Amino acid sequence: METWWGFGNLVGFWKPDGVLETRWGFGNLVGFWKSGGILETWWGFGNLENLPLKFLHPIILISMKKLDSDYWNNRYLENTTGWDLGEASPPLKVYIDQLKNKSIRILIPGCGNCYEALYLLEKGFSDITVIDIAPALTASLQKKLPSDIYPNLKIITGDFFSLEDQFDLVLEQTFFCALDPSLREAYAKKMHSILKPGGKIAGVLFNREFEGGPPFGGNEKEYRILFGKYFQLNILAQSYNSIEARIGSEVFIEFEKNL
Ligand SMILES: C[S@@+](CC[C@H](N)C(=O)[O-])C[C@H]1O[C@@H](n2cnc3c(N)ncnc32)[C@H](O)[C@@H]1O
Repeated sequence: METWWGFGNLVGFWKPDGVLETRWGFGNLVGFWKSGGILETWWGFGNLENLPLKFLHPIILISMKKLDSDYWNNRYLENTTGWDLGEASPPLKVYIDQLKNKSIRILIPGCGNCYEALYLLEKGFSDITVIDIAPALTASLQKKLPSDIYPNLKIITGDFFSLEDQFDLVLEQTFFCALDPSLREAYAKKMHSILKPGGKIAGVLFNREFEGGPPFGGNEKEYRILFGKYFQLNILAQSYNSIEARIGSEVFIEFEKNL
């Protein structure tokens, strides 16, 4: 049985021979996830009972990706990593440069190729944790940056939302925009729970929309509402030092946990 969802009052499931088994429904949309992350939706009408697929008329076929570990892992395996700057993000570098205390606990979620972590190491920071959900990526990071040579860097393979630890600073660089927007509230809450009192999230967020996603866009007003519930918004302003391709489309943030 495939994973499926539906709403309204139609219930059903796909049998291996491609027959949609339904119990009853009237004028409802049903859908199911096919492998490859395609959500296929169908229009059902009348009371349906064990109708073969051909009696249902497909009205929408939308592509919704399931942004799980396999999805991100494949992006690395297939080398479709258009977000990768090949260097630490300039706004984050400038932010890091003004940090005085090099022993603070820093987390980089959805770290990708770890450029910001390498920059932190270069600058003498001594307690850096990175986490990414793509095992192929983290395996290659562990090979490149083995813990006996880089004891100040901890590489975790896993889901940010399962992290149980506390940090002074979280650096955000194209992680928020990679998550399904339905997770935004959970992101803000989780950030709040993993920061120590007085801890901060700093980095960049997109201030523009995209067709589809990831990346998923957003705007300053939305961020003010979302993060204002959990943090004091020290900085939320147009970034002045983004890479050329992102000039004018990012805001720099520094949000502080003060509750
Ligand atoms: C758009 S990429 C950005 C990578 C890196 N920050 C950069 O800018 O190059 C998003 C990253 O988040 C990771 N990711 C997505 N969902 C995650 C989750 N729930 N927990 C941890 N990492 C996740 C992906 O594997 C991917 O490496």
